Amino acid sequence: MGIEVQGKIALVTGANRGIGKAIVEALLSHGAAKVYAAVRSLGTATPLVEKYGEKVVPVQCDLADPASITRAAATASDVEIVINNAGVLKVANALETAAFEALEYEFQINVYGLLHVAQAFAPVLKANGGGAFAQLNSVASLKAFPDFATYCASKAAAYSLTQSLRASFAAQGTHVLSVHPGPIATDMANDAGLTEIAEPASQVGEGVVTALRSGAFHLWPDSMARSMGDAYQSFSAAVIEAEGSE
Ligand SMILES: NC(=O)c1ccc[n+]([C@@H]2O[C@H](COP(=O)([O-])OP(=O)(O)OC[C@H]3O[C@@H](n4cnc5c(N)ncnc54)[C@H](OP(=O)(O)O)[C@@H]3O)[C@@H](O)[C@H]2O)c1
Repeated sequence: MGIEVQGKIALVTGANRGIGKAIVEALLSHGAAKVYAAVRSLGTATPLVEKYGEKVVPVQCDLADPASITRAAATASDVEIVINNAGVLKVANALETAAFEALEYEFQINVYGLLHVAQAFAPVLKANGGGAFAQLNSVASLKAFPDFATYCASKAAAYSLTQSLRASFAAQGTHVLSVHPGPIATDMANDAGLTEIAEPASQVGEGVVTALRSGAFHLWPDSMARSMGDAYQSFSAAVIEAEGSE
């Protein structure tokens, strides 16, 4: 069942820039009552507060620091929609020594971070009627790109956890959305050398609002993502989302 953003209280991790910022702006433009901007450093949320006033509430949350995630969940005790957007990418080929360090770092934030956020906010979402939990995965959750080998592995692991969370959260009435962008124009895409093929972050923000409303499990928000989503659809319907598959 879908969830309307209008009048809801949401929290977005990594809210200060890139896709996270675009999601905050889309939530507010579709009538969210309040958005907690969960950021590593509180000052980075100041431009959002200056633009949107008290509808944006900065909260400190570092995905590498589980205690800060627990504190954020205690502060945002009225939240109904949690969007775990924060993520990191290192350029690393699987045959480079640097791949080990990259893998460890990306798993810490993209995988362990997801699990900590899900576990910290599960009781909050339950207490507030179920709501929704969205995770920023990627086309890289389904297809490996050799220059980002370890990032792709972390996003595949995050997608696997998102599938499990979909079933586990269903028991408490929390809808789960798995978001799979292709290259999106942010610092991350720039650092990865994908600027020329990247599409605007607003497409992800708007897509999240629409997908939450529809109750879909997957969102493929841009052209590369849509073509992958089209190819994946029948597998997902028959295996991933099939009745009783969980
Ligand atoms: N851009 C793309 O092409 C693309 C495509 C598919 C999926 N994605 C996914 O979409 C999400 C957002 O990506 P983006 O492109 O917006 O990235 P970005 O421009 O690099 O921004 C990353 C965000 O994550 C935050 N962050 C990094 N490490 C963190 C930590 N330890 N704790 C809390 N926040 C942390 C950053 O905060 P600071 O400002 O404090 O560093 C920033 O707000 C990521 O999960 C990414 O994997 C991106």
